Amino acid sequence: AQAPVNVTVTGAAGQIGYALLFRIASGQLLGANTPVKLRLLEIPQAVKAAEGTAMELDDCAFPLLQGIDITDDAKKAFDGTNVALLVGARPRAKGMERGDLLAANGGIFKPQGEAINAGAADDVRVLVVGNPANTNALIAQAHAPDVPAERFTAMTRLDHNRALSQLSAKLGVAVTDIKKLTIWGNHSATQYPDLFNAEVNGKVAAEQVEQEWLREDFIPTVAKRGAAIIEARGASSAASAANAAIDHIYDWVNGTPEGDWTSAAVVSDGSYGVPEGLISSFPVVSRNGRYEIVQGLEIDAFSRERIDASVKELTEERDAVKQLGLI
Ligand code: NAI
Repeated sequence: AQAPVNVTVTGAAGQIGYALLFRIASGQLLGANTPVKLRLLEIPQAVKAAEGTAMELDDCAFPLLQGIDITDDAKKAFDGTNVALLVGARPRAKGMERGDLLAANGGIFKPQGEAINAGAADDVRVLVVGNPANTNALIAQAHAPDVPAERFTAMTRLDHNRALSQLSAKLGVAVTDIKKLTIWGNHSATQYPDLFNAEVNGKVAAEQVEQEWLREDFIPTVAKRGAAIIEARGASSAASAANAAIDHIYDWVNGTPEGDWTSAAVVSDGSYGVPEGLISSFPVVSRNGRYEIVQGLEIDAFSRERIDASVKELTEERDAVKQLGLI
């Protein structure tokens, strides 16, 4: 029998945690033949709630679930971990400045990076979901110098899936008819969903929609979808965020299909003018268990301007956490 994979979920008692854990335990994260052991990390006040979720996980009698550990100690949570899903983060409170938000999250992601560095398995893969996801990932990575930098990623797959859904509805095609869509930049309102390199049934997607729709409707709808969900649900995206985290890790481990790519925030190697070391969203393929940036795409002036704006925001966030001594 295959050895179990250790999967750590932080913020396990939160709403994304509740949507995510059952899917991991059922085999959707890694595949139907891979047993898993779950490690749930929470703050002390939320450990009891995480224990309640663990009781429900027990009650599912999932054949692949080989154990659940719950802790408020990052060292224990990441010891021997193979897949680390960093979901717990400090939300922006009313009146909080960006610097305060970055500092509060630094207090979470620095010790978690250190704990990953100290104890995680050699093959550890890290996905940061908690916002500001790209910069939180950068902070964690900076404190894990012994882990290859490329193992730290941040989630833009929800944005990618939102863009697929919007375009499929607009054109009346199946989401599977759309290939090579890309989210560039930061997981924030500056992100750029690119239809110029995307294809619908083999034809350039941007040429099948009105330019006005692309500019005035598609791009802002995708970028502001999170706010629209909060407005409608009274709570932020949870099941769709968990679904995207599953997609991100599943593809990382199992590979992306031939003839397509996906979007993930990964460490820049300088491609497409994104400064080296930034964790920015790119078109990526997964091969042999690694995400690689798709090379050689043409970037027209319209796209260039928008990618640059989002990357500028990432650069500013990086400079701010540098100034705070967090990286
Ligand atoms: P939530 O508030 O329901 O849950 C967060 C949980 O994290 C809470 O249970 C809290 O106790 C825990 N937590 C806080 N600090 C922690 C720490 N140091 N260690 C361990 N756990 C800790 O929030 P929700 O809805 O589950 O969202 C989580 C994060 O995901 C938020 O930052 C949210 O903005 C982000 N998000 C990111 C998306 C993306 O596409 N990248 C999409 C949707 C949400």
